[in-house]
Amino acid sequence: MIGIFDSGVGGLSVLAAIRRRMPNADIVYFGDTENAPYGNKSAREIASLLSMALRRLAAAGATDIVSACNSASVSVHTVPIDLLRVGTFNVVEMVGPTVAVLAPRGKRIALLGTAATVRSNIYQDAFAARRAEVSAIPVPELAGLIEGGAPREKLLPVVRAAAEEAVSRGAEIVSLSCTHFPFAKDLFEECLREAGSAAEVFDPAEAVAEEASARFSSGGKGGLNFLVSKDSPVFAAHVERLFGGEPYTISPAGSIYWALKTP
Ligand code: DGL
Repeated sequence: MIGIFDSGVGGLSVLAAIRRRMPNADIVYFGDTENAPYGNKSAREIASLLSMALRRLAAAGATDIVSACNSASVSVHTVPIDLLRVGTFNVVEMVGPTVAVLAPRGKRIALLGTAATVRSNIYQDAFAARRAEVSAIPVPELAGLIEGGAPREKLLPVVRAAAEEAVSRGAEIVSLSCTHFPFAKDLFEECLREAGSAAEVFDPAEAVAEEASARFSSGGKGGLNFLVSKDSPVFAAHVERLFGGEPYTISPAGSIYWALKTP
């Protein structure tokens, strides 16, 4: 079974791309709606939330994991899964597939992410390892606004400022490297054009889904189950909009204390 996690709604865009490629795979998605957003938390806090997420997905039967959370990628890479004592997983995360697609293109890339992602330097290091450059721009408020279901007028000034910063850095590609940001992709495009830029807006979801479908088994009964750490009407609305055409369940993920007691 494939387990996907994010702080909340962001990873649903990645799930949708995986679903299109692997319609028969059994998938469980954990949205840590109680602790979202992750992007303003410390690396230590995020590592601890990652271990809780993995425990919950393991308890649900997942062995193949998609970390649909850029803010957790540095923890996925630097905290050995073995140290977390949560079992053995095959893991696909956001950074590797994104850099593999973008680095060879030889364009000027602005990468927008959470404060945690940018501070971790994981993308800067990964692009440098492929002899490519990236200009990383933190957009700290945006994931929380999207998670809370903020309307266009609340998102616009934040997206506009980020787009203008990307333009001032000469971006030819703008990578939306927080999985929440593609929910505002149209707005990014609008603001870039407004600023006189023809930059391409890149959503890494397809590259990550491609990697997951290459590495994970696509067999199963097509089960689709969502776990949330806190009830969220915004989460439920996104799920219905994206997956309303098929059967799914949304259930409480159980408390963190329960997760801690799981062997
Ligand atoms: N969607 C996640 C990411 O890709 C987390 C955003 C957040 O919770 O701050 O970074």
